[in-house]
Amino acid sequence: MGRFPFGIPYGWYPVAWSFELERGAVAKRRYFARELVLFRGDSGAVSVLDAHCPHLGAHLGVGGKVEGDTLRCPFHGWRFSGDGQCVEIPYANRKPAQARAFAYPVRESGGVVWAWYHPKRAEPCFEPPEIPEYGADDWMGEWTPYEWTVKTHPQEVAENSVDWPHFHEIHHMEPPPDRDVRFEGHEIRWHAATTKSVSTLDGAADSIRVVGRNPGLGCSYVRYSGMGDSVIVMGMTPIDGEAMHMRFGVIGKKNGRSDSEMASFQKAYADDMALAVEQDFPIWENKVYHAAPRLCDGDGPVPDFRRWAAQFYVADDAR
Ligand code: FES
Ligand SMILES: [Fe+2]
Repeated sequence: MGRFPFGIPYGWYPVAWSFELERGAVAKRRYFARELVLFRGDSGAVSVLDAHCPHLGAHLGVGGKVEGDTLRCPFHGWRFSGDGQCVEIPYANRKPAQARAFAYPVRESGGVVWAWYHPKRAEPCFEPPEIPEYGADDWMGEWTPYEWTVKTHPQEVAENSVDWPHFHEIHHMEPPPDRDVRFEGHEIRWHAATTKSVSTLDGAADSIRVVGRNPGLGCSYVRYSGMGDSVIVMGMTPIDGEAMHMRFGVIGKKNGRSDSEMASFQKAYADDMALAVEQDFPIWENKVYHAAPRLCDGDGPVPDFRRWAAQFYVADDAR
């Protein structure tokens, strides 16, 4: 057993920002304790496959080439469609029956490429978030993106958002006096209102209201209003059972500002939010998970959160 008594939870995870993957582009990733290849075909569709070719094991993301909506292996030229089927072997008359690469369910929405992970490869049972502000009039057109590799697990990050007392010690904020959290099916829905100072804008006081949804343990989608209206998307994509790739993106509403005014405001405002995310890292990277923590009456709804989170694990997957 590793540091966390969980497997990798099933759910939707960001595997790329859309802007990272142009038509004809191929990218390699290590997520879910596997090697993956991502490619965008000429039609614009993105596919995510297990990276090692079913033939003799070449990495399709290292030298693989997009042709139409298919990917050609760099080693012997077998060609795979986005659903993983081998559609051509240039030197054979018959294709072996099992000549296919596993294809992950993919969605692209809100400027994010989402892949569905399930340890038993079951089909999706919910959807990633819709983000209607992305691409809408009066909103900045692209995410201000941040990313980190953090030695922790998505469940620990999600638990942080219902851990009220840590706001004082770690984030130098009073725990939000107005707050609520509900666990509904595959989602956590929550809101909080408090004041904070924005370090990147000369410590200006900001009275904020934050309304969030976490569909599963892999992401959250947050509407943030204060001195600016923003939307935050956060992704917690497991690299393996012990580390994750964290993405954090912010888009702001222009509210009459010009694009260039807005760009510098959005960057400063988002930089302050990203600093708050980083404040948690030393705790996350060094803490242990207590299955039976000694909680007190001022703690947040950690037991309710853990009961909700348990649904995303498959019984015999703990590693
Ligand atoms: S290893 Fe991919 S075609 Fe041979
Ligand atoms: Fe935190």
